[in-house]
Amino acid sequence: MIVQSIFAALFLTADLGLASQSPRADSGNGTVFDAQFSSLIQEAMDANNITGMSVGVLLPNGGVEFGAWGNRTESGETIAPDTSFGLGSLSKGFLSASLGILMQDFATGKNATALPHGVTEFNWDTKLRDLLPGEWMTEDEFSTSKADLVDLLSHVTGLPRHDVSYSPDDSPRDLVLRMRDLRAAYEFRQLLEYNNQTWTPTKRRIPFFITEHTADLIAGAGGVISSAKDMLLWARLIMNGGVDPQTNVQIIPNATVNLVTTGHSVYSNEGNELFSVMEYGLGWIRTAYRGHEVSICVPFVS
Ligand SMILES: *[C@@H]1O[C@H](CO)[C@@H](O)[C@H](O)[C@H]1NC(C)=O
Ligand SMILES: *[C@@H]1O[C@H](CO)[C@@H](O)[C@H](O)[C@H]1NC(C)=O
Ligand SMILES: *[C@@H]1O[C@H](CO)[C@@H](O)[C@H](O)[C@H]1NC(C)=O
Ligand SMILES: *[C@@H]1O[C@H](CO)[C@@H](O)[C@H](O)[C@H]1NC(C)=O
Ligand SMILES: *[C@@H]1O[C@H](CO)[C@@H](O)[C@H](O)[C@H]1NC(C)=O
Ligand SMILES: *[C@@H]1O[C@H](CO)[C@@H](O)[C@H](O)[C@H]1NC(C)=O
Repeated sequence: MIVQSIFAALFLTADLGLASQSPRADSGNGTVFDAQFSSLIQEAMDANNITGMSVGVLLPNGGVEFGAWGNRTESGETIAPDTSFGLGSLSKGFLSASLGILMQDFATGKNATALPHGVTEFNWDTKLRDLLPGEWMTEDEFSTSKADLVDLLSHVTGLPRHDVSYSPDDSPRDLVLRMRDLRAAYEFRQLLEYNNQTWTPTKRRIPFFITEHTADLIAGAGGVISSAKDMLLWARLIMNGGVDPQTNVQIIPNATVNLVTTGHSVYSNEGNELFSVMEYGLGWIRTAYRGHEVSICVPFVS
């Protein structure tokens, strides 16, 4: 399936307190952040007590525009398009892309580590039981033997969040070993049940302002930090099928971009006047906005 369009405007927000400052568009050609759009953003900030926000917009002609509003510190230093934010679950899109790159490395002999003994290939169908020998086990025999990375990342293991079952002192291995004791809410592949923990066995570690040990635990589900400027490069890369439009280098395999932005499970089975029903890819939601097909990375920003 072709991703015809992707929301290019990435709203990165810091929910720090009461906003009271006037909007301040930082740069751009002035075509997008006109007075009307700026006051809409200000209203949204005021209504949600957002202290600072930066927004990047990719124009159809390839141009970019940035806007920044509010403060990034208590002493009043202002937000800029390159101010870093924790991305929350937008991190999940980075993790699934990284896995595709890693699989390609194994397929082309560029891998720097070996697969577990007896495992000959690493792809989206490789079973977790083989990737985590002696560790992957759930209360259900079927998901213990059949679950693969697509199941894990499209939230269809049947396991609910169980968010109080782990602590910052746990290692990713602790989480995996505990999964056999956690009760499922649904049968394997029956229904989507959003779960942060299932993103941990596949963690990609990216520096974050939390302890090294906790970083391991949360990196896959929500550990990336980035800015509106860099997220626009990311959006452009995904929209261009994984090819960097400037260097023409294929960074993420095209098949990976297609796979992760294609629906694998039902995220929301009700539409409204703006959005169609929503499917969940691997870290991405697939939906139609006013009849235009889009892929969006779910921004549960924290
Ligand atoms: C303004 O638009 C042009 C294309 O029309 C683009 O090349 C340029 O980068 C844009 N400038 C900014 C600051 O976004
Ligand atoms: C914003 O802050 C005010 C004052 O603390 C509070 O009454 C209100 O509920 C907050 N609004 C939201 C959306 O959090
Ligand atoms: C931003 O900082 C300025 C200067 O300290 C202050 O007057 C203003 O209220 C702050 N705005 C917000 C939204 O906190
Ligand atoms: C790459 O993976 C293969 C398959 O597991 C393994 O035989 C090989 O040693 C790995 N290469 C490196 C450099 O670890
Ligand atoms: C990626 O795959 C899609 C769907 O098959 C195709 O339409 C598109 O041209 C491909 N893009 C690249 C950069 O290979
Ligand atoms: C799990 O993810 C959801 C959505 O991103 C988030 O609201 C929640 O706080 C996360 N839970 C933990 C324990 O990180």
